Amino acid sequence: MPDEVTPIAAVVEAVREDRLWQRHMEIATIGATGRGGVNRQALTPEDGEARRRVLDWASQRGFIASVDDIGNLFIRRDGTDPTADPVVAGSHLDTQPTGGNFDGVFGVLAALEVLDAASDAGVATIHPMELVVWTNEEGARFQPTTMGSAVFTGVLPLETALATRDSDGVTVEQALADTLKTTPVTDRRDFHSPMAAYLEAHIEQGPVLEATKNTIGLVTGIQGLRWFQIEVSGEEAHAGTTPRRNRKDAVVAAVDMVKALQDLMFDEADTVRFTVGRFEVAPNSPNTVPGHVLFTIDFRHPDRGVLTRLGDQVEGVCRTAAKGCGVSVVETMNAPPIEFDPAVFDLIRSAAQRQALPHMEMVSGATHDAKFMAGHCPSGMIFVPCERGISHNEAEMVSAADLAAGARVLAEVVIRLANR
Ligand code: GLV
Ligand code: MN
Ligand code: MN
Repeated sequence: MPDEVTPIAAVVEAVREDRLWQRHMEIATIGATGRGGVNRQALTPEDGEARRRVLDWASQRGFIASVDDIGNLFIRRDGTDPTADPVVAGSHLDTQPTGGNFDGVFGVLAALEVLDAASDAGVATIHPMELVVWTNEEGARFQPTTMGSAVFTGVLPLETALATRDSDGVTVEQALADTLKTTPVTDRRDFHSPMAAYLEAHIEQGPVLEATKNTIGLVTGIQGLRWFQIEVSGEEAHAGTTPRRNRKDAVVAAVDMVKALQDLMFDEADTVRFTVGRFEVAPNSPNTVPGHVLFTIDFRHPDRGVLTRLGDQVEGVCRTAAKGCGVSVVETMNAPPIEFDPAVFDLIRSAAQRQALPHMEMVSGATHDAKFMAGHCPSGMIFVPCERGISHNEAEMVSAADLAAGARVLAEVVIRLANR
């Protein structure tokens, strides 16, 4: 007699590499830049279209969609116990302005693949299984990053998130209303709704897995992150007539601030991550001394003490370098380092071992919605390699086989959690 096929083996077997890859390629057409990548920033028409595509795939299988007040989208495959909390997996569909085709999308499509594979295999679970699409993970259009999960878990007040404006002055509230109008979901989901567990599959976005020839990253935790927005106010003046000593040049002051901050953040070990990713000058005219600069700081470190010590010096360093200009420093995100649930971590490791996939432990350098979910329910993350570690770049590339391997590990862990 052949061995009995367990539900886990049946679902893992039913994960389809071709379907998973094809769906990535379909989502990649939405917001395609023509240079191999996408611009599908949060709550744009493109974000709405990607959500509709996922909703279409879900409704073809009879999965049930619901949405919460910040636009996080949930898709449920029912379990046999209607009182059981869902096992949830997901990520995000929004991208950086010059984003790749896998950051976030993989976690969403891997979760959908698990739901589909369970249905294809005819496997029932006790707990419902859910896919979640978090709103505005990237924080490129609206700051801060991981907005949807921050609001869902109560870290960020809904009113604050809704009032946030993009650089054109459009609020999250307006953009969300426009997006939801085009995505036909009527069921509402409450913030803080209980979950049995949360899993997020993601590309590593760094070079380690590829360099070490590992297929699966067992993520132990996520390094901490602090975001700041600095506004420097000088005085507009004529570029041809105003002597240096009479100027209040906001660019000169801001550049001095960036230099002083780089000195502050320098560490021989190269563990600190410090980025000034946005630098906006007004009035941005060649022959006017700039009166205003806005720049952003993204500062990360795995050690809570270093995050506090260096991050708390940002404002003072900026004030010292401001010279005659005014300066305002606003901290827009402060997320301490987190560690994932050891039991979920063990399940991910066992799945990688059982499936004979080369694997290693690692801390996530990038941030993810799992960071806030870790405070809400037992959570974990699964990484797969990306070519040369390139991400937040249109050249981002991942092999179909590695995507499928990650989805199979996710499937094993989700089914195990959903059947206990
Ligand atoms: C998410 O994309 C991050 O900033 O780490
Ligand atoms: Mn991501
Ligand atoms: Mn990203």
